[in-house]
Amino acid sequence: MGLCTSSLSGSDRLQDKFYQTKKWKYTIKDRTKLKQVENIVKPFILDDAVYKRVCDVMLDNFNKGLGKETNAEARVKMFPTYVRSVPDGTEEGDFLALDLGGTNFRVLLISLKGQEVNMESKIFLIPQHIMLGTGIQLFDHIADCIYKFMKEQKIEKKTLPLGFTFSFPCKQLGLAKAKLTTWTKGFKCEGVEGNDIVQLLHEAIKRKGDMEVECLAVINDTVGALMSCAHSDRQCAIGLILGTGTNACYIEKLENVGLWDSDYNDPKEVIINTEWGAMGDDGGLDFLITEYDKHVDKHSINGGKQIYEKMISGMYMGEIVRLVLEKLRRNGLLFGGVGSEELSKRGRFYTKYVSEIESDVDESDFKSTKQVFEELELTNYTDEDCRIALYVCSLVSTRAAYLASAGIATLLNKMGRKDVSVAVDGSLYRFHPHFHDLMVEKIEKLVTPGIRFKLMLSHDGSGKGAALVAAVANRLRDEEAKKEKDCKPNED
Ligand code: GLC
Repeated sequence: MGLCTSSLSGSDRLQDKFYQTKKWKYTIKDRTKLKQVENIVKPFILDDAVYKRVCDVMLDNFNKGLGKETNAEARVKMFPTYVRSVPDGTEEGDFLALDLGGTNFRVLLISLKGQEVNMESKIFLIPQHIMLGTGIQLFDHIADCIYKFMKEQKIEKKTLPLGFTFSFPCKQLGLAKAKLTTWTKGFKCEGVEGNDIVQLLHEAIKRKGDMEVECLAVINDTVGALMSCAHSDRQCAIGLILGTGTNACYIEKLENVGLWDSDYNDPKEVIINTEWGAMGDDGGLDFLITEYDKHVDKHSINGGKQIYEKMISGMYMGEIVRLVLEKLRRNGLLFGGVGSEELSKRGRFYTKYVSEIESDVDESDFKSTKQVFEELELTNYTDEDCRIALYVCSLVSTRAAYLASAGIATLLNKMGRKDVSVAVDGSLYRFHPHFHDLMVEKIEKLVTPGIRFKLMLSHDGSGKGAALVAAVANRLRDEEAKKEKDCKPNED
């Protein structure tokens, strides 16, 4: 499943990884140095009792978020999404989809015909000044991109239904009405928080003119991942994102959703967008927070918020590693104490470096690690430095994978279904060489015996998922219109 591409089994690969990363210890002859390094990295090594405690905190947060009385003060908001059923494979037609959730913005044209899905898409960059500008600028930019894309595809004269994957915390008031509660992941556009993003989009489309687009559904990327997998796997009941940010959604029984304010018709379930990244914002995870996590949080644009996300996701992982490497260097334990301007720049150690360094299996040459060092203009390194850097990366990414596993195990235990597929997407999960295996190993330890699970790589959930939800909304709208027509007295 997922990332498994080599011929080794998951546990063989993990054994191999542990061998690689532990071996550095035996190659450092200086025992004092060894002890000093271990002291610095120790806070990342947590035993199962700690991860079990994370599960307890998580469950407490979930219940608080779902409760009508407790939701207001809950940090993990558990937003009901108004997506009540997963696709049944009969969805058809052409749809536009938008995907906004990181530095890239995508516009897609998706044709659905049963299991057959065809897609055309184009990626547009969201420049930093727009990420930190005004909401009007952001949505005007989005409308411009839609227009360009439609022109290129020669569909600007068509009226197409649109699904919008907007991957930020939103309080949904309906399938096509979602108020942004707070920006995350480096966005801070003025005048959007507290407003309905579908309305902002429609207004921008109107300002642009010359195109007929109606947004029928707005979904979170976790929901997109879940929908996209559920299209072919009926056991799929959890969507997980491990990318720039982290979050999960799952199918919950309406009777457990104290917050629910709509009908109780079949199916008596709804997808809940947990927004679990906010766990720990009330100090609930202080028992495992390190000085490095505190530093990352303090220098972020949303200090005190998204604490769990900051320990796991791609936007922050590289920076955590950089802080540890810098501390080792300052203590003369790395690079002979000599760093570089690059290494001392905040945000300069990208999370992709973590994946690259950990991909160095042939320890005799450390090809990728050395390449990363060169990019950071570090010249004074030895094989021992490579080994220590690999060890640091592996500890930070392993903690991230285990923390995410605690979240998934909590959801699996809460749902109590026997067989569940978890749809996973995001660059961290896709490109890290061990994330999948580490998660499987830890979830198995934390889950109630008897529950079986699969972690499946979800393909383009943000595009396909949004189109599927729009397709269902479109069908329901057509059916409603037909019903209304049939009920009207015959006017002839
Ligand atoms: C952040 C957003 C959330 C999204 C996640 C993954 O946590 O708040 O909505 O699902 O990133 O992209």
